Amino acid sequence: MIWYPYEQMKLMKKPYKIVNAEGVYLYTEDRKLIDSVSSWWSVIHGYSHPELNAAIEEQLQKFAHVMLGGLTHEPVERLSEKLKQWLPGDLDYCFYSDSGSVAVEVALKMALQFFMNRGETKRTKVLALEHAYHGDTFKTMEVGDDEDYHFVLNAYGKSKHVIHIPTKVEAMEAIFAEYHDQLNCFLVEPLLQGAGGMRMYNIGFLKRARELCDQYGVLLVFDEVATGFGRTGNRFVSDLVLPDILVLGKALTGGYLGHAVTVANQKVYDGFYDEDPSHALMHGPTFMGNALACSVALKSIEIFEKQDYMSKIRRIEEITGREMKGFSDPRVKEVRIMGGCVCMEVYDSQCIKGYQQFAYEQGVFSRPFLNYLYAMVPYIIQEEELIKVLRTMKAWFLK
Ligand SMILES: Cc1ncc(COP(=O)(O)O)c(C=O)c1O
Repeated sequence: MIWYPYEQMKLMKKPYKIVNAEGVYLYTEDRKLIDSVSSWWSVIHGYSHPELNAAIEEQLQKFAHVMLGGLTHEPVERLSEKLKQWLPGDLDYCFYSDSGSVAVEVALKMALQFFMNRGETKRTKVLALEHAYHGDTFKTMEVGDDEDYHFVLNAYGKSKHVIHIPTKVEAMEAIFAEYHDQLNCFLVEPLLQGAGGMRMYNIGFLKRARELCDQYGVLLVFDEVATGFGRTGNRFVSDLVLPDILVLGKALTGGYLGHAVTVANQKVYDGFYDEDPSHALMHGPTFMGNALACSVALKSIEIFEKQDYMSKIRRIEEITGREMKGFSDPRVKEVRIMGGCVCMEVYDSQCIKGYQQFAYEQGVFSRPFLNYLYAMVPYIIQEEELIKVLRTMKAWFLK
């Protein structure tokens, strides 16, 4: 018996059973559906991509996995070298794990221990954003801010280790002024807060965050699990404002295998690098640096570069803007577009109940949540397929 995610099992409607997937399409026994959410925003190249398949098959001939404790291998070495070159600034030190949540946990542990290693034991607090979502493990729930997902934490009362602020410069400045000597890091989903409601905010906020972190010696951590690899219309938001620690997941492997990476800059790495064994980062997920995941991640980055994915994303944004132009409905509070993400926020979540089945009947797979009807399509989508996704969203309100 399968226990499905985010579902009241007693009320859950039967999931669509997928028998095949190729390109942007999911196939059930009797239907062909465009996946408008890229399997939770990860499948940027679409399904069953021949080059990605081949990368895994080739590595599989050698071995699928060996642990990184005391061992290493070519795919993990090559991926780390590639990320060092490809990522901005001195984000050079890659710590792998099996999911985005764990990679955020690792970032938070790094930030805390960075200061503990220096004897700055008062820096126990994390600054985070209202409406943040960083995963479903315990510490990521604590730094997250979403009652709808993580109300179970109410059992513990308010955390004294996390402060949440809105994406407003004045609020950020006030908190830094008051708490700067207790903060170890400021953790954000940069520019686009995904699961918290596809909320979009300004780069100016992040530039000011960088200045304040520099001024007060606080580490800046970008959770780009959702925003990385082009989703905001930037390759990484880290290309615009450089964090001290960057977290990548989801599209890292082109959505093929669960894998993530926490990338530290020189300063953070140096905070652990000395003669004292107790200053080591005591972490080691069993499947970190999995050889199949690293092989497919390398190929995914190669395709991303070779086929100029940034121009594909710009095209998606342009078509989306054109299609959504002039659309309005009294039930829709706002239509937000950024890069490869479009979201219709409605006033009342009841008015999008039934949308999933409606979309299914039009040949589109969608998974609205709360008040948000959104699309994050695979970047390989063709213009007419994208138009179909967007017109299905509009048609729900026009019917
Ligand atoms: C910004 C962000 N961080 C972390 C996570 C958690 O990643 P995972 O589901 O791989 O644990 C997610 C997942 O949606 C996310 O959107």
